[in-house]
Amino acid sequence: MFEGVEEIWMDGEFVDFEDAQVHVLTHALHYGTGVFEGVRCYDTAEGPAIFRWEEHLDRLFNSAEVYDIDIPFSKRELDEATRELIDREGLQSCYIRPIAFYGYGPLGLNPGKSPEQVAIAVWPWGAYLGEEALEEGVDTAISSWRKYASSQIPTNAKTTGTYVNSVLASLEAKGNGYEEAIVLNKEGNVAEGPGENLFLVRDGEIYTTGLAESILDGITRRTVIELARDMGYTVHDDATISRGELYTADELFFTGTAAEVTPIRTVDDNEIGKGTKGPITDEIQTRFFEVVEEGEPERWFDYV
Ligand SMILES: Cc1ncc(COP(=O)(O)O)c(C=O)c1O
Repeated sequence: MFEGVEEIWMDGEFVDFEDAQVHVLTHALHYGTGVFEGVRCYDTAEGPAIFRWEEHLDRLFNSAEVYDIDIPFSKRELDEATRELIDREGLQSCYIRPIAFYGYGPLGLNPGKSPEQVAIAVWPWGAYLGEEALEEGVDTAISSWRKYASSQIPTNAKTTGTYVNSVLASLEAKGNGYEEAIVLNKEGNVAEGPGENLFLVRDGEIYTTGLAESILDGITRRTVIELARDMGYTVHDDATISRGELYTADELFFTGTAAEVTPIRTVDDNEIGKGTKGPITDEIQTRFFEVVEEGEPERWFDYV
């Protein structure tokens, strides 16, 4: 995955890939006290541009605030570091991974005395679930692991430690021969995928699980809601979706920075619609890729 990556930006400096190291007693390694982002830079008609960068930076700083991580750089400094890193790596398109975390310090649970550290890595990353998945869709299974509730751990923060929930769901799905999991919330309704939000199409209208359903407030989710509305669709963005409704949906698809717009072809071996990419999913996916190829609307792109 990281072949050819030469440098990583770490704590204010560009360091060689091999030197981007932390101590084994790093607080975040033991307790998951880090926050991160996944962002894409697209090779648009106007050159490499970071997609919805401002929103990703806002979410990073909001996630940090929840855990009292005082990121020792401004958004502007992280922005400049990222653009320079992409430039130094000579990338036209890439995935961007900023991470802020409590570093090496006392290992008490209260991280107060641990230093805050920040790193940014960039690397080329194609279709997260594979090129074929974008066309044919993925086979999914409902996970036996539930998504934690926001009363237990804030679901609006993108925190390293909480991704063990996604890892468990993903391991289970792959172990049972599926490509991706769908995770239910504490109430037993649909939350999201391990790294994706979920959309359902029924009778020509579009539904996506609401923020109160223990989901991450996905930036691709926001994008698709806006694009679909612009295309004239009715979008219910605060839906509660039951497991059974998935089985009888006309179409289902995932959204995410990594997964982009990926159709779901089966859930628990039940074919969704015709068991391939549905027509509305196709239209939305086409529109999404048009947007990121053209770099329009401009307000969503920051040129490198
Ligand atoms: C749990 C979870 N839900 C949803 C998403 C989609 O969010 P976004 O579109 O901002 O990448 C992600 C990916 O970051 C995720 O990890």
